[in-house]
Amino acid sequence: MKLKLKPETLKAIDEVITHYPVKRSALLPLLHLIQEDTGWISTEAIEWIAAKLELQPINVYEVVTFYPMFRQKPIGRRHIKVCRTLSCALTGGYKVCDEFQKEFGCHTGEVSANGEVTIEFVECLASCGTGPVVMIDDDLHEKVDSAKVKELSAQIRAAANKGPNS
Ligand code: FES
Repeated sequence: MKLKLKPETLKAIDEVITHYPVKRSALLPLLHLIQEDTGWISTEAIEWIAAKLELQPINVYEVVTFYPMFRQKPIGRRHIKVCRTLSCALTGGYKVCDEFQKEFGCHTGEVSANGEVTIEFVECLASCGTGPVVMIDDDLHEKVDSAKVKELSAQIRAAANKGPNS
């Protein structure tokens, strides 16, 4: 399968490569940009990056497997990121994460059975005064409590039932 990237990702990739005297130095930024776009780093992505930066695929693969932040499996259509850094941990971040896992019947890092959701712990989302903080796709949710978990989960399910164009 061919790697499909958004036009803005392709533009950002071409731009970021110009910031380095040698192309290969742009490897980490490219991996981040592609993971942001597609949710994970596929074999196609590894081959694509290798060709783009004039590297061997094994050189890219080694970096992907070295850093735990790069995902080697696809994620759900919706991505729930729960902050677990100190302020959020103290205000209930772990409980919030448990509640999301129960709502969708999956553990962190897995894809829910219907392919809809992946839940992950992340580090500080820069909103420490309003914890626990959760980011769903690109939207930040503050002071998330049990009621809010239920409300957000219901919204995710409602959107899924409406289909991909909702
Ligand atoms: S500690 Fe959670 S946003 Fe900073």
